[in-house]
Amino acid sequence: MEAGKTIKIGFLGMGTVAQGVWEHLSKNPNVLGAKVELSKVCVRDTKKKRDVSIPPEKLTTNPRDVTSDPSIDIVCELMGGTTRAFDLSMEALRAGKVVVSANKAAICERGDLLFEEAKKMGSALFFEASVAGGVPVVKILREGLVANRFPLIYGILNGTCNYILTRMERENASYESILADARRLGYVEADESLDIDGWDSAHKIAVLAYLAHGVWIKPGEQMPVMGIREVKLEDMLWAKDFDYRIKLVASVRKNPRTNSIFASVYPALVPLDDVIANVNGVYNAVSIDGDVVGRTVHIGRGAGRDATASAVIADIADAIKFLKGGVCVRRENKKLKLAKASEVTSAFYVRLGVKDRAGVLAKVAECFAKHGISIERLKQLARSDGLSSKAWLILTTHETSEQNMSDVCSDLKKLSVVAERPFVLRIFKTPKI
Ligand code: NAP
Ligand code: HSE
Repeated sequence: MEAGKTIKIGFLGMGTVAQGVWEHLSKNPNVLGAKVELSKVCVRDTKKKRDVSIPPEKLTTNPRDVTSDPSIDIVCELMGGTTRAFDLSMEALRAGKVVVSANKAAICERGDLLFEEAKKMGSALFFEASVAGGVPVVKILREGLVANRFPLIYGILNGTCNYILTRMERENASYESILADARRLGYVEADESLDIDGWDSAHKIAVLAYLAHGVWIKPGEQMPVMGIREVKLEDMLWAKDFDYRIKLVASVRKNPRTNSIFASVYPALVPLDDVIANVNGVYNAVSIDGDVVGRTVHIGRGAGRDATASAVIADIADAIKFLKGGVCVRRENKKLKLAKASEVTSAFYVRLGVKDRAGVLAKVAECFAKHGISIERLKQLARSDGLSSKAWLILTTHETSEQNMSDVCSDLKKLSVVAERPFVLRIFKTPKI
């Protein structure tokens, strides 16, 4: 690229995140160290009122005005979704443009094809904003911690869920009212179930797993995913009684003995003395164990306009450097296997709705003993929902396999003294450092 050339940036989408990028780059373009022009913007509705002022001649509803304009060097895909956004990113790459994307869903589902196309075209795809909002975790893994292998990466990767769990615990507020606030603050995906049901966290941990281990893990098929829908305020209070806090934890572990990795997303009880148990609100935290560096923990706003814009602008800066030079990409690890859920162990928290009568405890304890599961702590509590003939049994177990836990739950459901399906959470314990 010739020195002093003005770099032209096109946008696919001008919603929450893109408007943050537009505003901050308009105010302070010098951060990029190059002359840039915000040149074309594709949206669904050019008449829509926006928070930033965009000259009407720059707006279009035809994405090809961005992806096929030969004068555009960098395309920011900030529209979301996995079909159209993917096709347009591919088109932009095929046209030789560098693509910047915050779209973790598209990258998780078909990142392999996007990266392949970028490589084929001698171009690049930057995706810092796709994981943990403003926390530069992609760069940390790819560059800052390049000396390491990664036995464990875990953390809070969804701002919306963390915001909801935090406010539920602090204010005893209703789930719906908090979700409405999260939406107003620009945290929530267009399809809110991506956040609430754990898929957004799964997309993000899949991206981190790729960066750390060079393999793509498919959420659902190859990664158990559970969201926060069924977590009750009572679970949060009882967890606290046991010195834990419930967080939506995404993790990827590597077992060096079997050379396999296992990723998961579920609401888990995190010991109160773990840093991530104290990361609240929209904040995300990523804890990375590196075999050289030890543990590093990275915390920052995980969603919202400005935090995410900060990461997109960092990617634009990298894209500019790329256009002037090149970047290094970690090589894939073809020998690594995916671990099966049955090979993975955890301690568990169980909320069991039982009939309040003699002999219940004995029957439940016998069932756990039959499956070789040792109960660590146990409490019986009255129900707050007026069902006085029933009670809650709240218990935690010692470490056992996922298979044992699944088997005991099947048997518990069959007991006449058990009134409803057991609700199970993992206790997320990590090696002490
Ligand atoms: P958003 O507010 O819903 O904005 C989406 C933008 O894309 C809108 O400007 C919309 O146009 C445009 N668009 C959607 N479909 C289109 C289509 N078929 N053709 C043309 N334009 C289309 O979304 P956002 O919150 O900024 O998120 C954008 C991306 O960033 C998503 O991938 C999201 O997962 C990711 N992300 C978001 C956050 C966050 O905190 N919000 C954080 C990290 C990553 P109109 O304005 O005309 O409707
Ligand atoms: N909906 C996402 C979240 C946006 O709440 O974390 C950031 O990726």
